[in-house]
Amino acid sequence: MNLERTEASKSMGCTVNCATISESDNKEFLRIQQDLTTTGVSAGAGLQKAVVARLGDYEIRRCDREDIPSVIEVNMKTLPEHYSDYFYYEILSEFPETFLVAELHDVLVGYIMCRIEYGFSQLKRLGLARKGHVVSVAVNEDHRGKGIGTSLILASQEEMVKKSATECYLEVRVSNAQAIRLYQKLGFKIEGRLEAYYRDGEGALVMAAKIGK
Ligand code: ACO
Ligand code: ZN
Repeated sequence: MNLERTEASKSMGCTVNCATISESDNKEFLRIQQDLTTTGVSAGAGLQKAVVARLGDYEIRRCDREDIPSVIEVNMKTLPEHYSDYFYYEILSEFPETFLVAELHDVLVGYIMCRIEYGFSQLKRLGLARKGHVVSVAVNEDHRGKGIGTSLILASQEEMVKKSATECYLEVRVSNAQAIRLYQKLGFKIEGRLEAYYRDGEGALVMAAKIGK
């Protein structure tokens, strides 16, 4: 079964290392997905505004449904990959713990959204792993170089570890030198390359890092 090529991920061009796994693994995957969804729902609105880190005057906090239009605005300004509105709401409802925003005086300036997946490890040659997948991270240009991107990634990784993920991975355009440098600084290694991954034909690097103990 193809684990990672969900309808949503197909529509956004964020798929990687699609793999076939056995029926029993599949059941385990479905069980974990169910657990995660249940946890997400039970997290409830009360936790959504939780501040997880501060960086000077910037606050890193959980995304809320009302933040999604501003998240989309940041995405439109900063990245060529745009997703349907539905996709943002879906990720938020399924994985609220790892969908974080950076805010300065009530203005949203950055976000990170992630999924927790179960599938083939990006780091081990064989074997399955629970993985935190950084689907998208961005910071408005005026606010870059201040550590917000770093804080968003580290804070989301802490949440991934709480969800028992042991590795974190992402895809990044081969030409995105600044992001690649940042990921390398945070311990990500290049684990693969996907040719013509993006709609415009550009390839992606798959980068992954071990997280937790
Ligand atoms: N602008 C950007 N980077 C700067 C600047 C500046 N004006 N000045 C210095 N830098 C350096 C920083 O010093 C830092 O390097 P260092 O730690 O070695 O000093 C690095 O660039 C940026 O680190 P942060 O400040 O933690 O990250 P930032 O808040 O700038 O966000 C990000 C990084 C998210 C990659 C941002 O550049 C961005 O939004 N880019 C456009 C969108 C993008 O490419 N997103 C990633 C796509 S891949 C994916 O989403 C999985
Ligand atoms: Zn992806």
